[in-house]
Amino acid sequence: MSGHWTKHDMDFLGGRRQRRTRQFAWSRDLVRETVLTPADLIWPLFIIDGHNERTTIKTMPGVERLSVDLAVEAARAAAAEGIPALALFPNTPDHLRSEDGQEAYNPENLMCRALSAIKQAVPGIGLIADVALDEYSSDGQDGLVRDGLILNDETIEVMIRSALVQTRAGADIIAPSDMMDGRVGAIRAALDDEGLENTAIMSYAAKYASAFYGPFREAVGSGARLKGDKRTYQMDFGNSDEALREVAQDIDEGADMVMVKPGMPYLDIVRRVRSELNIPVFAYQVSGEYAMITLAGAAGAIDRTAAMIESLYAFKRAGASGVLTYFALETARLLNA
Ligand code: PBG
Repeated sequence: MSGHWTKHDMDFLGGRRQRRTRQFAWSRDLVRETVLTPADLIWPLFIIDGHNERTTIKTMPGVERLSVDLAVEAARAAAAEGIPALALFPNTPDHLRSEDGQEAYNPENLMCRALSAIKQAVPGIGLIADVALDEYSSDGQDGLVRDGLILNDETIEVMIRSALVQTRAGADIIAPSDMMDGRVGAIRAALDDEGLENTAIMSYAAKYASAFYGPFREAVGSGARLKGDKRTYQMDFGNSDEALREVAQDIDEGADMVMVKPGMPYLDIVRRVRSELNIPVFAYQVSGEYAMITLAGAAGAIDRTAAMIESLYAFKRAGASGVLTYFALETARLLNA
């Protein structure tokens, strides 16, 4: 006995060696199944009032809220790197937040001013407008609240008005993120009635009640206001078939694109939507995911840049048509370098 394996011992492989294509960078490039490009990225931006203002978000190091003029500069930078679209989120000044969230349909609100300024200055980039009341209401819920209950149909009335002012200000895609029942169909009908049939809808179709939204709520200023949770409208994280029903219903109601949210913990849902339903599906790598990668990188636990790229490939591999990510500009720059 020689004590080491002979070629004969490896005969069970029958010549099938998976490592051959992994030997060189060129051969890995040649057989890579999934490719990430700047065109896969949607960049969320937080907007604040004022001029030449940028404020930091404690729980999202590296992400800033920008005043409209600086958001226009950011849009220019994004377009120059080939990022196809931005998703805008306003941090509404406190004095304009109210129980009825009426600032949501003020045609001069921060969101509308940002939409029209960017549309005018950078017409080639797509603008996605979030529609939900948490960015305008005094209690941080996505819907109107009465006696502690989230009102479905009354909320939709406000959302319709909000979607209309956003569209007129320059939104190309309306993105309802509230999870009220029937909002996609109602918004579609209202847009069509107003002659805005070319405005698309990307619904947050399968949106889970998640712990990973924490930093976002700091960014838009809704977190400290929020009492309780969003579990009577956002989905239970134990469910997967229900996500397929949500997505199918939104398609039925007229959604052009759907979204799964959060991202990395829900890649199984992205894959199911991609495999079982015939519609572009986007994943939102949410604020808590950004924070985890960034803070672990800052602590020296992981390589932030490598983890960022690997995580974005995972979305593509799972079947996502694109990813909403706070890493969008940084990633696009890296991919274009
Ligand atoms: C608002 C909205 C939320 C996010 C996007 N739109 C927060 C929430 O539902 O509480 C989360 C995005 C993120 O965490 O990055 N309806």
